[in-house]
Amino acid sequence: MTRRRLVAANWKMNGSLAANAAWVARWRSLALPACEVALCAPFVYLENLGKALEGCGISLGAENVSEYEAGAYTGEVSAAMLSDIGCRWVIVGHSERRILFGETDAVVAAKTRAALAAGLSPIICVGETLEQRESSQTLRVVETQLAAVISVIGAAALARCALAYEPVWAIGTGRSATPEIAQHVHSALREAVARFDPAVARELRILYGGSVKPGNAAALFAQPDIDGGLIGGAALQAEDFHAVCAA
Ligand code: PGA
Repeated sequence: MTRRRLVAANWKMNGSLAANAAWVARWRSLALPACEVALCAPFVYLENLGKALEGCGISLGAENVSEYEAGAYTGEVSAAMLSDIGCRWVIVGHSERRILFGETDAVVAAKTRAALAAGLSPIICVGETLEQRESSQTLRVVETQLAAVISVIGAAALARCALAYEPVWAIGTGRSATPEIAQHVHSALREAVARFDPAVARELRILYGGSVKPGNAAALFAQPDIDGGLIGGAALQAEDFHAVCAA
């Protein structure tokens, strides 16, 4: 197994020029972690952050991308533009975008395809709501979300993606999934990919997200199918994010 751990920050709609500069300064004072590290931040700060983070061992990512290539799409940001300013990653299908901005499985799949076409690596998010978990639909929900993407990009293209399991009930709630619950879903997702392409499934990094903190990261990351994390709240402080990376 050659999966290198990946820990990605998701700043969401947080930050300012001053706060971001302070974050980078604190990060620079800490030792480089052994895992691969990505920082996904609001569009407007990406170019500046890319320059500030040079030599920091962090690759840059966006939190969203247009499904369209170019043209009359007021307010949209294309995958080629993100690539142009130095992004390597982009989060697609985050539950906040699915729930608050109405992104369907088809839109998430189209965004994944657009990201790949521009040479970006998508971090594809899947996850169930509390209601879906309580009615025993978790695996059906996450496998349907994943299948919608695979039907558009093909399983082989997952080799250029990371997958993130983020139970909606665990995001920003302080109530993380237990390592056992997360491992159960991660292994089911890996098996689902293996039904299409066993080699891709073995190499695919599946991140856990949802209230990961310095105190619970090590137990989550010790699970055999958890290959890192997507970190929201705890990524807003450089020291906390660094501690999660160290775990
Ligand atoms: P959280 O968010 O770590 O604040 O729960 C994770 C995410 O939404 O990606």
